[in-house]
Amino acid sequence: MKTILVTGGAGFIGSNFVRYVLERSGFKGLIVNLDKLTYAGNPENLADIGRKYKDRYVFVKGDICDFALLGRLFKKHKFDAVAHFAAESHVDRSIFGPRDFVETNIHGTFALLESARSAWAGHGTGASAGQGTGASAGRRDVRFHHVSTDEVYGSLGATGKFKETTPYDPRSPYSASKAASDHLVRAYHHTYGLPVTISNCSNNYGPWHFPEKLIPLVILNAMEGKPLPVYGDGRNVRDWLYVEDHCAAVWRILLKGRPGETYNVGGDCEMKNIDVVKNVCAALEELLPSPENPALKGKNYEDLITFVKDRPGHDRRYAIDFSKLKRELGWRPSADFTGGILRTVRWYLDNPGWVKNVKTGAYRKWLDKNYRRSRA
Ligand code: NAD
Ligand code: DAU
Repeated sequence: MKTILVTGGAGFIGSNFVRYVLERSGFKGLIVNLDKLTYAGNPENLADIGRKYKDRYVFVKGDICDFALLGRLFKKHKFDAVAHFAAESHVDRSIFGPRDFVETNIHGTFALLESARSAWAGHGTGASAGQGTGASAGRRDVRFHHVSTDEVYGSLGATGKFKETTPYDPRSPYSASKAASDHLVRAYHHTYGLPVTISNCSNNYGPWHFPEKLIPLVILNAMEGKPLPVYGDGRNVRDWLYVEDHCAAVWRILLKGRPGETYNVGGDCEMKNIDVVKNVCAALEELLPSPENPALKGKNYEDLITFVKDRPGHDRRYAIDFSKLKRELGWRPSADFTGGILRTVRWYLDNPGWVKNVKTGAYRKWLDKNYRRSRA
């Protein structure tokens, strides 16, 4: 593999993945990062990587729905692999505004699949308007990896875990759009022979996480002495995975996964939301004790916990059976939750500049100064 297209590489997991591949995997080729830079995309996440890997990292600001741009990129860079992270990713936003989710997650994935099929079949720009030729993918030495979520499987009762064979039962506009994209990816394998793989992963946490999601939101609110909002009774369960472990799993699947296969990825770390929040509070008490934080005004971090109205249609429990990935590719999570949360909280404490820019939107100004849309 010489050249990889990473989509959504300015987001939380995508940026961790680009960093992982360039710094830790032994990969010697080129990464092209295509990202639209929505509110969740932040090129500052990879500013140091851009400086360090001038010849091996290219950033392109653009939309995965843009067939013409994709055609130009595939032609110019002759990608050997695609790692597709780009998505609208926040469940709450999908409840209040599902349109972008359908657009990016479904249409965008379709545009990428069609562009990859066309380029790898060797007829260049055939995908320009999404009107494929019906030809099957020619190159076999290529891979299209689609990054998906455990939320496509719906919600579990008190026992059991999601397996790759669990029937799909998405219940939010976000998970429905991801399920639709998974189906398209599989259809491109069955119909055209496109060498695809899919991973369905549980909740990630770690550095560069946008502070609308539970863990970074709670860290930043707690640091500022603001309420820590816990939906409903706080007993919904998620299976948490440190983001670098997810990146290692995606990399392994991209290199060694069997075409057409799906792999579940999870942390073996089921936690009730209220316990997650208490863990964050405990990590903060260790690293920035509440008596030393003037924003707390004499309170403890846990005193800030506030139960709020539940998320509509809130899935009760997720848990992942990742035995297939362990058995076939030898992957397992390496981080334990307490250690991972400590590392994550420390990262937020150590990066006040990033936090301030994200919270004030200042990185957009930085962005306007530093990037122009690349012409492929
Ligand atoms: P994120 O919201 O942090 O990042 C998404 C990135 O995609 C952003 O940089 C954004 O600018 C970009 N993007 C959005 N629309 C685009 C478009 N039309 N064209 C090009 N770029 C676009 O998301 P994340 O949490 O890093 O999630 C990445 C992927 O992993 C998603 O596919 C998500 O469904 C999946 N996933 C996330 C988790 C999790 O816990 N965060 C777990 C399992 C799977
Ligand atoms: O399971 C994988 C999914 O995990 C990914 O596919 C999504 O992209 C990712 O956003 C994440 O979805 P969740 O909805 O599980 O993540 P979030 O951080 O939004 O919420 C985690 C849990 O915490 C969930 O049960 C809702 C709850 N919650 C969330 C927020 C933002 C709260 O109690 N309070 C909050 O303020």
